[in-house]
Amino acid sequence: METQRLLSGFCSNPTIPPVRNTKKPFFVASPPTSSASFYQPRKWVSYRTCHFVPQRVGSKQRLKCKNGVENVEDDAISHGKDLKNGVRRKKLAVFVSGGGSNFRSIHEASLQGSVHGDIVVLVTNKRGCGGAEYARDKGIPVVLFPKTKEEPDGLSPSDLVSVLRRFEVDFILLAGYLKLIPVELIRAYPRSIVNIHPSLLPAFGGKGYYGMKVHKAVIASGARYTGPTIHFVDEHYDTGRILAQSVVPVLANDTAEELAARVLREEHGLYVKVTEALCEERIIWREDSVPLIQSKENPSEFR
Ligand code: GRF
Repeated sequence: METQRLLSGFCSNPTIPPVRNTKKPFFVASPPTSSASFYQPRKWVSYRTCHFVPQRVGSKQRLKCKNGVENVEDDAISHGKDLKNGVRRKKLAVFVSGGGSNFRSIHEASLQGSVHGDIVVLVTNKRGCGGAEYARDKGIPVVLFPKTKEEPDGLSPSDLVSVLRRFEVDFILLAGYLKLIPVELIRAYPRSIVNIHPSLLPAFGGKGYYGMKVHKAVIASGARYTGPTIHFVDEHYDTGRILAQSVVPVLANDTAEELAARVLREEHGLYVKVTEALCEERIIWREDSVPLIQSKENPSEFR
């Protein structure tokens, strides 16, 4: 709650906007409505209780941290409201625990313009991971989650929801984030959280299937095809509705490392395509709650 209090200092009305009811039979996904009363701080104030060495972000001096939220100058955050074909530019949170190569490819696609959205915050459970370093280097605020004995600066689930609300986050992209997503976050962001998994779910998914373990299991099974899956996130590991998949062949003499590298290359392209579709509001929910991607070129086609 300390973070809530601190951030509330910037906020004329700290009320969290109500969660939408999304139980409609068939609709285009849209992000949670953000309250117009949210105040965008002109300037982030510096707090200093944790152990980051101040670095430079562009020309700006950064960066202080309190209770899991590293603060940056406000103008490092995009407030773009620009419309593309009548669709508002989206705000994205990315969660990582490791190197963050998917995060980087989405960030690059955002800068290059194919993704109609901006990564406004990076959430990690590993403050020193490659993804967090990349975010700091690019001036993207870093948030620590969860709070643990080893990471007492991390946020609680309810504080994380508050922080994401204050960043006006529309979609959450899990990209190699190894912790289970708390139910508070799933309820606060219905149909708005996706994850990438390096196998063709529902095969080789679930608790314990992460990193190289997935690729070793694929090779040991004799499967001839594997590939990334992007799915919506529910309370369990890797069980949410599948949104997109891409097939990668398993070669006879593949090592797990070779296979992982081939799958990862495919992940980068797939995650960018899915993020483009999310940001352009091209996700359509079939009546049986299967999400489909509407083709950009031919809007009557769905995959
Ligand atoms: C990817 O293989 C992804 O499928 C899995 O974690 C890995 C993350 O890689 N969930 P990176 O951090 O994006 O490089």
